[in-house]
Amino acid sequence: MDYFTTTSNAAKRATDCLIVGVYDRGKLSAGATEIDAASSGALRRLVKSGDVSSKPGRCVLLTHLNGVKAARVAVVGLGKASEFDTRGFCRAVAAAISSVADSKCKDVLNTLTLEKVSNASTYYLARHTVQTIGDVMYRFTQMKSGRKNSLMPLRKIGLSVASRGDAAKAMLAAEHGDAIVAGMSLAKDLGNLPPNVCTPSYLARTAQKLAKGNGKLTTRIINEPEMKRLGMHSLLSVTAGTSEPAKLILMQYKGGGKSKPIVLVGKGVTFDSGGISLKPGPAMDEMKFDMCGAAGVIGTMATVAALKLPVNLNVVVPAVENLPGSNATVPGDIVKSMSGQTIEILNTDAEGRLILCDALTYSRRFKPDTIIDVATLTGACVIALGNHHTGLMSYDDALADEIVKAGVDASDRAWRLPLTEEYAEQLKSNFADFANVGGRDGGAITAGCFLGKFTDDLKWAHLDIAGTAWKSGQKKGATGRPVPLLSEFVLSRCNALP
Ligand code: BES
Ligand code: MN
Ligand code: ZN
Repeated sequence: MDYFTTTSNAAKRATDCLIVGVYDRGKLSAGATEIDAASSGALRRLVKSGDVSSKPGRCVLLTHLNGVKAARVAVVGLGKASEFDTRGFCRAVAAAISSVADSKCKDVLNTLTLEKVSNASTYYLARHTVQTIGDVMYRFTQMKSGRKNSLMPLRKIGLSVASRGDAAKAMLAAEHGDAIVAGMSLAKDLGNLPPNVCTPSYLARTAQKLAKGNGKLTTRIINEPEMKRLGMHSLLSVTAGTSEPAKLILMQYKGGGKSKPIVLVGKGVTFDSGGISLKPGPAMDEMKFDMCGAAGVIGTMATVAALKLPVNLNVVVPAVENLPGSNATVPGDIVKSMSGQTIEILNTDAEGRLILCDALTYSRRFKPDTIIDVATLTGACVIALGNHHTGLMSYDDALADEIVKAGVDASDRAWRLPLTEEYAEQLKSNFADFANVGGRDGGAITAGCFLGKFTDDLKWAHLDIAGTAWKSGQKKGATGRPVPLLSEFVLSRCNALP
């Protein structure tokens, strides 16, 4: 995608599609005011007659307006001016792009970046424009046969700005946004691919491909024999029922000299049947998304590498398939993790924590400055927070605050849950050091406590993305979250934000 900024009058720009807006009570956005003046009041008349609505999410497409150079003007509803925020902004851009998605638009100019948005600077308005357009335009067609519906040939996005200084910020935002869109699209593709294609080996190959042609990025794959030597019996217990080989994927990006790395660990269960503790049939296909933690951290690595950020970043992905079988782990089995701690596996469906704990222990060798694991870990997190906030757990207040802020700024929010001792007590086992489940109550938190037993002396946080990584129902598919949050976190860490 190409990007440009402009300070010129919206009516005078030749573009395939101009985006302008209308607030409640007929108040026109800055761009809409220019269009209205150039077309001798056409917009105001349409507002008055009720043909253009100020309701958030509405969009009316006007073509070949008199006095306006643009081929189309998408007039979107913005709601109350005093309440117009980042969410409303993204919704408006999404509505405009959706309305021209079937058209032949090659370039668009968003004038809404000129608006006062209660909680966002020009940089974020420009970035959210690019990210929203990337999100709306994403299609997963790899697995469809026959002719694929051609997508709008959009290749240029314009951003209206008020000053030279804003123009520089908007261009930086476009560069960042473009890389985040690429990372999100990769994460979505990996999530959407079927489990017979996106296996642990496929994830490993994807990581290796990313490293090709990027001098700062290297990938190494650890296979089962080496895992055995390393003592990763917890991880190996999950893969025991399948013939699909498990992989531990290591990616290392070196852009930050001698500084300690940020380590991102992503759950890569390419299909979670539950194992011997088999899941019920309905919607079981959705457990192909159980590698979205892996997709999120690999996607973030793609973003960071594309931007050549001055940071050291390691990605660690334990990738397995969780199936029942004659060799499968059964409830009651006790395994020794790489850390030496023993685990009574009371439920083979609580497998994410079993692979993550060994990946976390392995990650110690990178001497992380900060370590964040990302996982579609618990149904309980979906019950607690729904599909809107990612569950965040950490013993480190400063790190938790930093992640919450990154989520707010990136519009990819996380909500902290408490990790206090009482919850950890639910993991007591009569036979091993602890069990892999702690009962139904507080299930997202007891899972977090389990991981905490392997990270106690590290600056660590856990993100449960079970509710946010994909959508169910008609629009079933991966969302690309939490690539925006993690990218924001890294951008902020290396002072790359204005
Ligand atoms: N991958 C699932 C978590 C999950 C469930 C995500 C439903 C999204 C929707 C995870 O491996 C799992 O099965 N967790 C169990 C844990 C339980 C056995 C303690 C769960 O949440 O039911
Ligand atoms: Mn499971
Ligand atoms: Zn799972």
